[in-house]
Order: sequence, then C-alpha cells, then structure tokens
Amino acid sequence: MDKIFDTIILEQEGPVAQITINRSDKLNALNTTVIEELGTAIFEHINAEVRVIVITGSGSKAFVAGADIAAMQSLSPEEALEFSRQGQSVFSALEKIPQIVIAKVRGFALGGGCELAMSCDLIIAGESSKFGQPEVNLGLIPGFGGTQRLAKRVGLPVALDILLTGKAKMLTAQQAFQLGLASRVVADEQLDNEVDEVIKAILASGPNAVAETKRLCRQSFEVSLDAGLSSEASTFATCFAGEEADEGISAFLEKRAPKF
Ligand code: COA
Repeated sequence: MDKIFDTIILEQEGPVAQITINRSDKLNALNTTVIEELGTAIFEHINAEVRVIVITGSGSKAFVAGADIAAMQSLSPEEALEFSRQGQSVFSALEKIPQIVIAKVRGFALGGGCELAMSCDLIIAGESSKFGQPEVNLGLIPGFGGTQRLAKRVGLPVALDILLTGKAKMLTAQQAFQLGLASRVVADEQLDNEVDEVIKAILASGPNAVAETKRLCRQSFEVSLDAGLSSEASTFATCFAGEEADEGISAFLEKRAPKF
C-alpha cells in the first residue's frame, strides 16, 4: 500500500480508527505537516463505519510536547496567524465530528499537545503523563485554543495559574483528573486496556444516541440553557422516530443485549 502520510499513522479496523502522531524523536511536536495530515486523515480517510477515533503519540515519552518550536523560529506574523488558524480549525473539527475522539495520553501533553487533548471528547491518561501550557516561557501564548478551552474545563483561577506560570505548573495526570482536565487516569501499563474498555462501552450503545449526546453536550458551552434544553427535547423526541431506541428498549425489556 502507498504511504499516505509522513508524520502520522492512520490505522482503521471496523468502527475504530487510531491516529498516531509519529515524530517521537521530536516528542511528536506539531508542525504544519502534522496538522495538515491530521486534518486530511479526519476529513478524507476515516471510513464511514468508524465511530471512535483514538489520537495518540508514538513512543512512551510524549503524547505531544507542543507546537514545533524549531519550526516556529522563523515564522512571520502572517505565517503565525495561518499556523494558529490551521491548528484551531482541525482541533475544532474534532469537537464537531460525530465520532467520539479519545486522546490516549502517555508522557508529555504540553502546549499544543494539551490543546489537542482538550479538543478530544475524552482524555485517558497514563499516570506518569504531564499536562501544561508552557508557551509564556517562550514569550508566546497558546495558539490552538488553550486560552479559550482550558478555563472552560478547569475554571478561570486554575487555568490562569497554569497559563501564566508555564513550566512551573505542569500537572500530573492525577491532578489533571482531579481538576476535570482528564477523564480517566490509569497505571501506564493499563492504558491500552482502559482505552479498549472505553471503546467497547461506546460501541455497545446506540450509534445515534452516542453522537447526539456528544453534539448536545458540546453545544451546552455555546448556547443558553433554554436553547440547549430545547435542542435536547427535540433530539430526545427524534430518538423515538428511529429504530435504535426501539431496539434498545425492547432488548432491555426482553432481557437480551441490544443489536445496534
Ligand atoms: N518542538 C520542537 N522540538 C521539540 C519540542 C517542541 N515543542 N519538544 C521537544 N522537542 C525536541 C527537542 O528539541 C529534542 O530534539 P533534539 O534531540 O533534536 O535536540 C527532542 O525533542 C527531545 O526533547 P528533550 O528536550 O531533549 O527531552 P527532555 O526529556 O530533556 O525534555 C520536555 C522534555 C518536554 C520537558 C522538553 O522537550 C520541552 O520543554 N519541550 C518543549 C515544551 C514546550 O514548550 N511546548 C510548548 C511549545 S509552544
């Protein structure tokens, strides 16, 4: 098979796809090519049957240690604007696609790595991973959503502490979990198993119900409570027009596993 990508590996098996950022010698730092390839993988190569996408980094040292600092050295303001918009647009897309996106985090998730993880629906972290936004140490600010998403996740006081003090405030996986940044933390050697268990749980449920739950839950950060509740009610009603709820409810009452 032709090699499609230079900086990522895309593997697909039935309803599950895994994207591995494959620059372990640079701790999987994000340059323009990585982000472009992430976007291409998601928009052009993910099979229609895929329901869960796992994003991870190669090697054991880092999920992603940030945007590529060496590549940023020569950026003009115009190129920096383009780079920021490119990352923001791919990361925002992860929040909008119907598939559930899981960040499987081992090692450092710093800067753009923390921003990438925050754009995923679930962050499942090995206990030795580290989260942080050290951009200010470089005289920069986060450019892929960190100034916006972190406070929404962990609240303004903690977000500002992390963003303003940079490397001095890297979070352990356990702290990230306690603060609501990570969804689950497990022993490093359990990480693959835990992600597999989560995938199994997601795949056992109604595909439409899962996708709509993601959409509505994410939308709750964008719209008023009344507007969100109204969308919830109409989507709840729509569930009763399809075969999925029929099968799920019948299966429960007949004491059997549903077939979605
Ligand atoms: N961009 C580009 N290259 C990076 C990188 C990044 N964000 N993070 C790490 N690397 C490279 C290093 O330059 C080094 O490359 P080299 O072997 O060619 O010199 C390699 O990855 C290994 O990193 P190294 O620094 O030697 O590992 P370490 O274990 O000593 O430190 C970190 C690990 C994560 C603490 C350190 O690499 C670091 O601080 N990285 C930058 C984090 C950051 O500021 N991210 C936000 C960017 S906006």
